[in-house]
Amino acid sequence: MTWRPANPIRHELLAARWPDADEAARALLFQPIRVGALTLAQRTWVPAMVPWRATADGFVTRENLDWYGRFAAGRPGAIVVEATGVRDIPSGPLLRIGHDRFIPGLRELVETVRRASAGHTRLLIQIIDFLTIKRRPEKAKFFARFFALNERHRRALVGATNDESWLTVDEQQVLAMLAVAPDELLEKVLDERALESLCMGYRERVTDTHLAHIRELPQVLPEIFAAAAWRAREAGFDGVELHYAHAYTMASFLSARNNRADGYGGAREHRVRLPLEVYAAVRARVGTDYCVGVRFLSDEVIAGGSRIEDAVYFGREFARAGFDYLSLSKGGKFEDAQQPKVGQAAYPYTGESGYECMPTVISDARGPFGRNVPLAAAIKHAVNMDGHDTPIVATGGITIFEQAESILQRGEADIIGMARQALADPDWFLKVRRGRGREVRRCTYTNYCEALDQAHKQVTCKLWDRTELDEPDVALSTDGHRRLLAPAWCVDE
Ligand SMILES: Cc1cc2nc3c(=O)[nH]c(=O)nc-3n(C[C@H](O)[C@H](O)[C@H](O)COP(=O)(O)O)c2cc1C
Ligand code: SF4
Repeated sequence: MTWRPANPIRHELLAARWPDADEAARALLFQPIRVGALTLAQRTWVPAMVPWRATADGFVTRENLDWYGRFAAGRPGAIVVEATGVRDIPSGPLLRIGHDRFIPGLRELVETVRRASAGHTRLLIQIIDFLTIKRRPEKAKFFARFFALNERHRRALVGATNDESWLTVDEQQVLAMLAVAPDELLEKVLDERALESLCMGYRERVTDTHLAHIRELPQVLPEIFAAAAWRAREAGFDGVELHYAHAYTMASFLSARNNRADGYGGAREHRVRLPLEVYAAVRARVGTDYCVGVRFLSDEVIAGGSRIEDAVYFGREFARAGFDYLSLSKGGKFEDAQQPKVGQAAYPYTGESGYECMPTVISDARGPFGRNVPLAAAIKHAVNMDGHDTPIVATGGITIFEQAESILQRGEADIIGMARQALADPDWFLKVRRGRGREVRRCTYTNYCEALDQAHKQVTCKLWDRTELDEPDVALSTDGHRRLLAPAWCVDE
């Protein structure tokens, strides 16, 4: 189950008028732009998308190479490689960059994209840190293995049952009773965190400063990110994107819910401190001639979370510090995630904040198209007013040429990000540039791909994953039913 707006409206796709090749050649969308030390050949951008194709220990696979090679064949201005873990710890089939042993595979990825785009597309990599999240436990297992009974629980039990004997009864007996107790009783006895661990699965927060490894994040993360960024440069990436968005460590430091009392939480100036220190360490390691960008949230869309005013402040600070671009996303938080099934982990794209991150055509009156553009525009305005021309990447429901071009013409953003539309048709950029926009396979924004991501299955698009399965050498998903890549477009027809 994922969140839906109250009184949902099913929106039609935007009516499209496609430019001919001359009009496209003149469009701002297809003009070069400088991004720090880089020049993009056009103002189009494929933001990070996790495809679930790495090995279980985080190495680049043939499938990763083919996935990025396929996007590169459409020749967008830039592609950002999926969120890639900065630490040398197991994290499932997600790419990793936390040790030098990952460099050769990543270098092959860079070479693949260069070849497939004929040198046209710049390749960046998004680097991420995340904290522990556990699967939702079975009730019996939770009380037998994870729950630490204390005096406060016993007293709450006495209060809820009017039975004083709970103060002295043997611990095993109390735990056995709680394991079969109704939810109403558990809500009275367990504190908020224990209840959350039972109902959603245990999740660490940056505010858990009673844990040494969380308390020390500000001391260790700058070096970990700097080392990862250096590896990105070694592997040949054109730049690195610090992942300060969604449900992960750095976004949690920026969050208005971060109330750490050690100078890294509370007021905005304190919440932005570690993100700036991480940036400074990265910049010192990779040098001023290397592109370092950031992805962060224009709105967290959770109760008590950061809003656009915070994002404007962060954007100004990031531009002032010297980030080469600011890429905006929205929402995607754990705080409002739906309850997972027993044995599964919470997924930060199932609540309202998740909806705002990847809005669908089942929407409110505003609809999913360009929904986040006004927020990107507000951040761009503030950054520009400060005298910085740091490019702003806007993403979220941008799907047709006229929409993208008018965002640029109105000065609401500098670069256009397309995630799902590029997945639906990686050749969008080439087709539109050549005046063949009518051939674009239009994303329907119904999030079949996102459901695959949620299930940790190889991500594909419903518009092409069952087509032309009998083509020679077509690579199939592990379930054997879906092709892993969009069919090739015959460019020279
Ligand atoms: C399958 C999938 C995986 C994604 N993975 C990432 C990711 O690794 N990092 C990130 O910042 N955003 C990720 N996103 C969010 C997209 O980059 C983008 O912000 C979002 O899909 C909205 O843009 P769109 O409307 O153009 O799809 C992912 C989106 C999808 C659909
Ligand atoms: S699966 Fe659906 S939402 Fe995802 S890219 Fe394809 S058409 Fe778009």
